[in-house]
Amino acid sequence: MSLPIVVLISGTGRTLKNLIDLKERGELDVDIRLVISSSQTASGMQYAEQANIPVEVVQSADYQDRAAFSKQVFMLCNQRLRGSGYVVMAGYLSLLDIPENYTNRVLNIHPSLIPSFCGKNFYGLRVHEEALRRGVKISGCTVHFANNEYDAGPIILQKAVPVLEDDDSKSLQKRVLEAEFEAYPEALRLLAANRVEVVNTPYLAENQEGTNPNEPRVIQIARIKKC
Ligand code: GRF
Repeated sequence: MSLPIVVLISGTGRTLKNLIDLKERGELDVDIRLVISSSQTASGMQYAEQANIPVEVVQSADYQDRAAFSKQVFMLCNQRLRGSGYVVMAGYLSLLDIPENYTNRVLNIHPSLIPSFCGKNFYGLRVHEEALRRGVKISGCTVHFANNEYDAGPIILQKAVPVLEDDDSKSLQKRVLEAEFEAYPEALRLLAANRVEVVNTPYLAENQEGTNPNEPRVIQIARIKKC
């Protein structure tokens, strides 16, 4: 059975288009049941319309708070997914309150190697500008489960991209986006094959204030199971 997904977009929809193209070429077995846009001007909606995928616009400004906004988004997801499949954030810029039944069922892709250059306000060209400013020699992208913080949930997979001496933020962004186009489908294939498991692990962040080596914090990480 095709993997049922709902795709969330905010802007140009290149990530959505890539998923649609792969599906049409028979390279990715997903059933895109709905696209939800956080903006009524997101140009990415055109790709859904061209592919006859239903589109809903849910804008945070129309809701009292994040809880009410998120409730509407997941109500629409529930209607289409009916308890199975995944919610795929594709250039989606709103932070959502993820309900319990969607824990580790919401995916995001971020254009850096998390935990570098991520978190609130790290989106678009800013991510690559910061990577260049810091002088890193390798950047890349990360597919991860989303939780209720920006770019913080268990990492499913990462792809590295070299930073070249003559890169500017646009050229680096372009190269990272090419890696993203491979990483997202790869992650979806792993999930469809039931090869991703999330486990608890003790985590001791060095130099973190208040960290007690005798009582490490427990975090969740994702592991890839062998075939
Ligand atoms: C990519 O940089 C991706 O990592 C981030 O959004 C950008 C793509 O946006 N999450 P879009 O798919 O063109 O709207």
